[in-house]
Amino acid sequence: MALSLVSCQGKQKEKKAEIVIPTEWKDTGGEYINSHGGGILTYEGKYYWFGEHRPAKGFATEVGVNCYSSENLRVWNYEGVALSVSDEEGNEIEKGCIMERPKVIYNAKTRKFVMWFHLELKGRGYEAARAAVAVSDTPTGPYRLIHSGRVNPGIYPENMTTEERAARLDTAQYREWWTPEWTEAVQRGLFVHRDLEGGQMSRDMTLYVDDDGKAYHIYSSEENLTLQIAELTDDYQSHSGRYIRIFPAGHNEAPTLFKHEGTYWMICSGCTGWAPNEARMFSAPSIWGPWKQHPTPFAGEGADKTFGAQSTYVLALPDGRFLFMADIWKPESLMYSGYLWLPIRFDENGVPVISKEESIDAPAQ
Ligand code: GAL
Repeated sequence: MALSLVSCQGKQKEKKAEIVIPTEWKDTGGEYINSHGGGILTYEGKYYWFGEHRPAKGFATEVGVNCYSSENLRVWNYEGVALSVSDEEGNEIEKGCIMERPKVIYNAKTRKFVMWFHLELKGRGYEAARAAVAVSDTPTGPYRLIHSGRVNPGIYPENMTTEERAARLDTAQYREWWTPEWTEAVQRGLFVHRDLEGGQMSRDMTLYVDDDGKAYHIYSSEENLTLQIAELTDDYQSHSGRYIRIFPAGHNEAPTLFKHEGTYWMICSGCTGWAPNEARMFSAPSIWGPWKQHPTPFAGEGADKTFGAQSTYVLALPDGRFLFMADIWKPESLMYSGYLWLPIRFDENGVPVISKEESIDAPAQ
């Protein structure tokens, strides 16, 4: 028997094991939930929602990564700051840095909770483009930063051809962006070459743990022009060196990944900053591809702008269904950015569909 997803304000019917999506987004203390660009860890029957603490005014990270817990996805207790910024000058996570899109996974071998997030260094805008990793012995933290940096320095992506590797394209020859020649060069790995030695850029990101326990870091790389999928080591704390690039020059970000009946699905956004755009969707029979593009999964009014939201995570529910999570950014006060959570339905061909109707009162099975 399938569970039903209904809104708090939807009609309450007699249903078993109902999951209700919050509409007020307040924690049990009555405070607005401050957990943006986040994701949910399921551990021992409880949900832990990690996200960016954002200030009421301004942009940079003043506090760190927040954590909330829940037994039902509706009532959220504030667990405090899971990873705090540092007061030490020059520290990688010094107050005033930018921490974005944190995701936490549990490693059964090491019994550690491992958090990855996008880190920008204080005062350097978005140029650092680092992936950062922090660990904890408990789900709620405190997490300790273990390292941050670019991805897989010195290593070519597995799916870059011998010819592309040999081409050694140089950005000095392609100073003007968005020309057809430049786009072709990006597709052939212009920025992979530029960043080979120091490592690939890593901005918007998510994590995915497969059924065999292998974990992957999926991130916007190459100046946000190309997504990369990198395998993590068995302890989930570093990259294994194995990675691919997908949809080069496709300009995709805010990636989410999930697997349904053997097919890997990725829902992400285009790159328009805080402004919403039409979501993109891809699928593959293996995480290593081949990946193919589908139309947006969103249906109904406002679907062309993803209902004003930008993807952040897809939560696999214990009963086999999936919950799509997104942010409705409010750049004038990021703290009060909203949340859009909707169940994912699969059409008769097994293709994901996301519409607002389904969140209101899904029919009981
Ligand atoms: C968006 C991105 C967000 C944040 C923002 C900053 O494109 O998805 O995570 O980085 O830009 O402008």
